[in-house]
Amino acid sequence: MVKDAWPAKEGIEKLEELETIRAFTKRAFANNLHRFNAIYCTGKEEETVLEIGSGLGYLANNWSANFKGKWIQLEAQEKFLEIAKKRDPTGLLVQGSIYELPFPDNTFDIVGGLSSFDVFSNLETALNEVKRVLKPNGFFFHVLDMGADYEIMAKDFRKKRIPFYSTRKTDSLLSILSGSNQEVEHYYIPTERIPSFLTRIGMTQEEMDAKEIITGDFGFDALIKSINKKEKRKDRNEFEDIEFKNIRYISTYFTLFQEYAKKINTNDYFNDKLQRTLQNIFGENNTKKETIIGEFKGKRTKLQKERYPYCIYYEKNGIKTNMAASHKGIWDYIETIIPRIFNQVHEKAIIDYTIAYKR
Ligand SMILES: C[S@@+](CC[C@H](N)C(=O)[O-])C[C@H]1O[C@@H](n2cnc3c(N)ncnc32)[C@H](O)[C@@H]1O
Repeated sequence: MVKDAWPAKEGIEKLEELETIRAFTKRAFANNLHRFNAIYCTGKEEETVLEIGSGLGYLANNWSANFKGKWIQLEAQEKFLEIAKKRDPTGLLVQGSIYELPFPDNTFDIVGGLSSFDVFSNLETALNEVKRVLKPNGFFFHVLDMGADYEIMAKDFRKKRIPFYSTRKTDSLLSILSGSNQEVEHYYIPTERIPSFLTRIGMTQEEMDAKEIITGDFGFDALIKSINKKEKRKDRNEFEDIEFKNIRYISTYFTLFQEYAKKINTNDYFNDKLQRTLQNIFGENNTKKETIIGEFKGKRTKLQKERYPYCIYYEKNGIKTNMAASHKGIWDYIETIIPRIFNQVHEKAIIDYTIAYKR
């Protein structure tokens, strides 16, 4: 299987789960794509787009009807393409890898992706391939509509040997929908703060460099070392017997970690990395980031009602927000106090597009 490709079975489950989540902002998102198409696409039949990492075909299927050109979906995982083909038998689908695109140089007007470049571990090679197949003056775009891939971000930190801690992705619908990652906590220690942090937890730079994996847990070693020293023990395993009395060491470590750490959002992290890599490859002046906001007001869809019967979007004091009720009782209450919003939805999709031109 191609490097980075999602596994077939779990991958399908993940993508289907994404679709149920996306159902909440699907129409607002489609408005975004419609506006993007109006700004950047020509509407001519000869326009060619290559979409990379197309999965089950979500981007192509939600793109503006005003697009008249040729849209090719490239995907590494054959099983995903089989489903995409069933959904849209007219789709132009190609199995292949971003690292070795099966197309000659200067082929496409546009190369794009939706939440796909964040899963590529070698972003530089990927974008060089994109540049190769783009026509002169053609452009690349990328959109992230969910939290960016956490594993790739964690790998980056490990490679740079930066202390990193994460509670991993939450399944919380609201945190994903609101795009705020509110319950997804990722922290790292900025490079300039690493030496003083290490001193505080009693570890030297050499000791840290000798560690294979650097995550938020790595400081436990230092703590365990100091416990062993105090208790004159040599053989204590790192994690094996963290006893109750040692909890205070652990909490000391985390308090210190939080004091030194900076919180990050996976989307921001990835978008910055993407922009920097694009600037290196396509040139600084040819790369930009834009935000487009799409909105939709109307009835809740059948899926919205079925899957998450107690979740709605609403507007309060001019602030658009969303609201979920975990059980029927609360929902009944909401329905009683705000009857006009029942059955109604105000979808909003805020999307950062990163764009780079090949000049
Ligand atoms: C997060 S999913 C996004 C799928 C789809 N764009 C969507 O938003 O629903 C990332 C996709 O990239 C594909 N992928 C991973 N590695 C790839 C590679 N080397 N070349 C092409 N596609 C790849 C995965 O199989 C997966 O379908």
